Amino acid sequence: MRKKITIVGVGHVGATAAQLAAYKELGDIILIDIIEGVPQGKGLDLQESAPLELFDSSITGTNDYRDTADSSVVVITAGIPRKPGMSREDLLDTNVKIVRSVTEQVIKYSPDAFIIVVSNPLDAMCYVAMKVGRFDRHRIIGLSGVLDSARMRTFIAKELNVSMDDVQAMVLGLHGDAMIPLPRYSTVSGISITELLSEDKIDRIIDRTRKGGGEVVNYLKTGSAYYAPGAAIVQMIESVVKDKKRVLPCAAYLEGEYGIHGIFMGVPLKLGANGIDEIVQVKLTGEEMTALLKSAEEVKKTISQIKL
Ligand code: 2OP
Repeated sequence: MRKKITIVGVGHVGATAAQLAAYKELGDIILIDIIEGVPQGKGLDLQESAPLELFDSSITGTNDYRDTADSSVVVITAGIPRKPGMSREDLLDTNVKIVRSVTEQVIKYSPDAFIIVVSNPLDAMCYVAMKVGRFDRHRIIGLSGVLDSARMRTFIAKELNVSMDDVQAMVLGLHGDAMIPLPRYSTVSGISITELLSEDKIDRIIDRTRKGGGEVVNYLKTGSAYYAPGAAIVQMIESVVKDKKRVLPCAAYLEGEYGIHGIFMGVPLKLGANGIDEIVQVKLTGEEMTALLKSAEEVKKTISQIKL
């Protein structure tokens, strides 16, 4: 039997993730949204691409959480996206309410699901979902580093004119301008980019990575990115449903790792059928550690404004 994957919020991000997950046959997919007709319409349309793309996953669109019952994975994309000039933190008040109400419904019908939070401001929304759903910390992560490092990998590959296949990158910390791209742990076929690129070029890649989401928002004007976020979500789902145990940078609830307690932040973790198998603690220089703690302070500042 195929696993049941629920995607809450069928805007561009949710719909793109659903499409890619269906093409990879990661499971049967439930699309749910409060807007009547949209999940049903997008679901039917995606289902009708099955004979062309050759997949057997079933896609169901609904407005009723009962249809999401017993999901293995639930992806929460619900919430408003930012517009040009807005930071992810500007979405806080609206998205707290949305994520709270979504989580209450999700937990009611799928108490054992693995949760992937995508709504922004990401690290704070993970916190809201965890507190409302009382999830075990191994069963909830947020989309941050997989997306941010995909952007960094893209910029590295383009700068060096090498295949995307050979480029890896590591981005830790919060999902915002204070994220921490780590050039020492970013490589081309195992060679650190610090050996391949000048400091100046690395600085430019770091800066563009930090502002990567905003760069797309500024072009689109009406919303935020979705192709790269959708692909990043699917990589995370795949590691869980196939028990791949990939080591991916994701937002996780920290209980002392990296000296940080009681908040979500991006760290490398091993992801398998049981959710987070392990939080990987890499060695950081003094400067990197200072940046990580500064990132943590920003997350704490955001969550201090949340009333649950
Ligand atoms: C981004 O970075 C939407 O936060 C997401 O594009």
